[in-house]
Amino acid sequence: MSERPDISTPEHIRQLVDAFYGKVRVDPMLGGIFNGVIQDRWPEHLAKMYTFWGTVLIGEQSYQGAPFRPHKDLPVQQEHFDRWLVLFRSTVGGSFQGPVAELALTNAERMAAMFMERIGFYRDHPERFIQ
Ligand code: HEM
Ligand code: HEM
Repeated sequence: MSERPDISTPEHIRQLVDAFYGKVRVDPMLGGIFNGVIQDRWPEHLAKMYTFWGTVLIGEQSYQGAPFRPHKDLPVQQEHFDRWLVLFRSTVGGSFQGPVAELALTNAERMAAMFMERIGFYRDHPERFIQ
């Protein structure tokens, strides 16, 4: 019987991010979208995502960026975010349990809902997006 740890260290963050994007990259629905944009920049993307989740989950304050921007014009619908969340939940739940693991899931759900809402809004109102 092995207890899963909660997410609490930079090593946990790396493990989570590597495992999650390992699934994303080969996913029939999401892989092509990610690989099409990121191409040979996966090391940089993973490094950035360590800082994002490190900032959100373990207080690192290492992420610098505007998370919505790169998603604004992606060819995605609700079903893509649903799939993203299925993969994220199974990755978190497969290795971790506890309040920070729960925080990861609720934050991911909020971020996904917010991104989908804003993507839809700017599709309907492109003139409202001031660069
Ligand atoms: C109602 C939901 C949310 C709204 C409207 C919102 C909005 C924003 C906006 C406008 C920015 C500035 C950069 C940008 O436009 O991309 C930002 C930055 C950021 N957001 Fe959110 N956000 C929401 C939820 C979340 C959630 C759930 C998370 C955690 C997963 C999160 C994490 C961040 C981080 C890490 C930044 C970078 C800047 C900073 O740390 O100050 N946001 N958000
Ligand atoms: C179907 C869903 C999604 C797709 C297809 C997607 C795709 C992408 C792509 C292609 C990039 C890289 C852009 C680049 O480096 O050129 C990116 C960056 C990023 N994504 Fe997503 N994403 C999705 C959902 C999410 C969700 C739900 C979150 C938050 C929990 C998230 C957080 C981020 C962050 C923080 C970055 C880095 C932004 C920056 O440059 O600072 N993504 N995403």
